[in-house]
Amino acid sequence: MGVSYNNYKRMNEFLRQDIKKELEILLSLDNDYALFKYQYENEKQIGKMLGSGYSVGTSSGTAALQFCLVGLGIGENDEVITVPHTYIATLLPISNTGAIPVLADVLGDTMLIDPDKIEERITEKTKAIMPVHLYGQMANMDKIRKIGERHNLMVIEDAAQAHLGRYGGKLPGNKSHAACYSFYLNKVLGGISNGGIVITKSRKLQDKIRILRNPESNDPLVLKSLRTPAYLDWEQIAFIKCKIKHLREWLERRREIAKMYNEELAHLPIILPKEDKKAYHVYRDFVIRANKRDKLVKYLSRKGIETNIHYEQPVHLSLTYKYLGYKKGDFPVSESICQQAISLPVNPFLANDEIFYTIRKIKDFFK
Ligand SMILES: Cc1ncc(COP(=O)(O)O)c(C=O)c1O
Repeated sequence: MGVSYNNYKRMNEFLRQDIKKELEILLSLDNDYALFKYQYENEKQIGKMLGSGYSVGTSSGTAALQFCLVGLGIGENDEVITVPHTYIATLLPISNTGAIPVLADVLGDTMLIDPDKIEERITEKTKAIMPVHLYGQMANMDKIRKIGERHNLMVIEDAAQAHLGRYGGKLPGNKSHAACYSFYLNKVLGGISNGGIVITKSRKLQDKIRILRNPESNDPLVLKSLRTPAYLDWEQIAFIKCKIKHLREWLERRREIAKMYNEELAHLPIILPKEDKKAYHVYRDFVIRANKRDKLVKYLSRKGIETNIHYEQPVHLSLTYKYLGYKKGDFPVSESICQQAISLPVNPFLANDEIFYTIRKIKDFFK
């Protein structure tokens, strides 16, 4: 039996008729004005479904984060606090602006930023905190918002992996200056390749990002931006529109699969992902931790089960961020997660027998 990590073919098959219809609409648009209208109206609609307030589509989640930073006036030598255990694209937008990523370790249970480690990293150069809602679970936004308020810092949420995740019933963007999503294909909500969106309660920030994503703009802010067209393209919008209708149902299925894994794998020598009581985890990934991780990955692969490793290396040990001066041992929790983490298939197109097969093979491995 083969178990697919992404199941793109099944998803596309399920959406095929809707996608065809939506692409027909696009193909019937006769001029730039009609295309811009399609883009503007639909990205607004998508924004409304993902959060409250204002929204602006972008070419990627990375662009969304970078535009937020620039739009909020963060740049050269400012410090932004984030985590070492994330995808590198959390840090790239920070360093692209000339700002300095300052790292705080994650919690051992949720694998998300440890709020108690944030304040010790704050200096007079700190301008913002960027929590990452990794694997689909939101960080503790109650505590992070309070720290932000206490120190007059901006909070920008990297929600690239957590569409419709909630903390204390609130979506990303509710307790911060902005939240940024990615529509990369492998997210819980994707386009056909990539895209992004910023959700913010600030109309001013929305307007600034509209300027920043337009390379023709003469605004001085644009000098610090990507200087490349960075819109959410219409073909991405067409795919997102077809998928977003099913998002809630797909997230519920992801949670159901997570529950099956949690129940069935409970007694094995592995660490299961912890769901914060206040969080609605959307399980972009179901990440377990095992000492014999590499052997387990190979074993499952031989049994036809695709898995992933998120991530092989904490960002402070990457070549890209060597210049920050951190060394091995600085963030022990993140470092240990990277050695042990293995992501199991949790996409909503998995059949129950495929999940039970995966569970059985994991149990066999530990026998
Ligand atoms: C945690 C995190 N932040 C930021 C990004 C950047 O998003 P994009 O790939 O759309 O630029 C990603 C995407 O993989 C991500 O997983």
